[in-house]
Amino acid sequence: MGERMIKLENLTKIYHSGKEELCVLEDVSLQLPRGKFTVLLGPSGSGKSTLLNLIAMLDKPTHGKIFIDGQEITALKSEAARSAFRLKKIGFVFQFDGLLPEFSLLENVEMPALMCGNPDKKQAQKLLESFGLGSKIHKLPADLSGGEKQRASIARALRNNPPLLLADEPTGNLDAQRKLQVFEDFARMSQDGLTIVMVTHDIHAADYAHNVFNLEQKKLVQVK
Ligand SMILES: Nc1ncnc2c1ncn2[C@@H]1O[C@H](COP(=O)(O)OP(=O)(O)O)[C@@H](O)[C@H]1O
Ligand SMILES: [Mg+2]
Repeated sequence: MGERMIKLENLTKIYHSGKEELCVLEDVSLQLPRGKFTVLLGPSGSGKSTLLNLIAMLDKPTHGKIFIDGQEITALKSEAARSAFRLKKIGFVFQFDGLLPEFSLLENVEMPALMCGNPDKKQAQKLLESFGLGSKIHKLPADLSGGEKQRASIARALRNNPPLLLADEPTGNLDAQRKLQVFEDFARMSQDGLTIVMVTHDIHAADYAHNVFNLEQKKLVQVK
């Protein structure tokens, strides 16, 4: 298994649309240790989401290999195998909370555990309490503020206790105060052993992270 949580080996991603080719990542290699908070910066369109989606197995690289927690995920052949691995190992937080509107916060957070055949609403409740949402567990997402919804979506991503949390611009939708709160939460969670990779174009996030990379010209450049 080793100490590395993520290993990228000669990763290249080329999008094809008609005759056009767009190379977004070119021969990127990288290793990230466990229990660190890594921030991935870069302007809009530089390929941040592309990279995160490849790590989350939401898309496939054109060339190269990806290892997570010792498993080569690019070698997983079936969608069933990828889903099972994702459900156990990866929590994903999107820019927009992605909560299911017709379910309460508690039901939303419980969903990943249900999908794993491992339901326990007490755990979901505890998790929501740890994000300061204990009094809101029976509310629908529409009855919450943007910051509350985003915290609930982080709680949901953590429900199956994954070793890896991926977040794509999770604060894109929040005011400055709420934004810093999320960065602080992520820094604290990585102290507790969680590996976190967060994509953002907010330079302030760098202050909270162990590692910072810039995605520029199809390459990752470490700046912290
Ligand atoms: N599915 C796709 N097909 C073709 N081009 C894409 C696709 N997804 C993203 N792109 C292009 O790849 C580049 C990187 O996109 P993206 O990874 O979303 O950047 P970022 O998240 O840094 O804003 C952009 O030019 C975007 O238009
Ligand atoms: Mg993006």
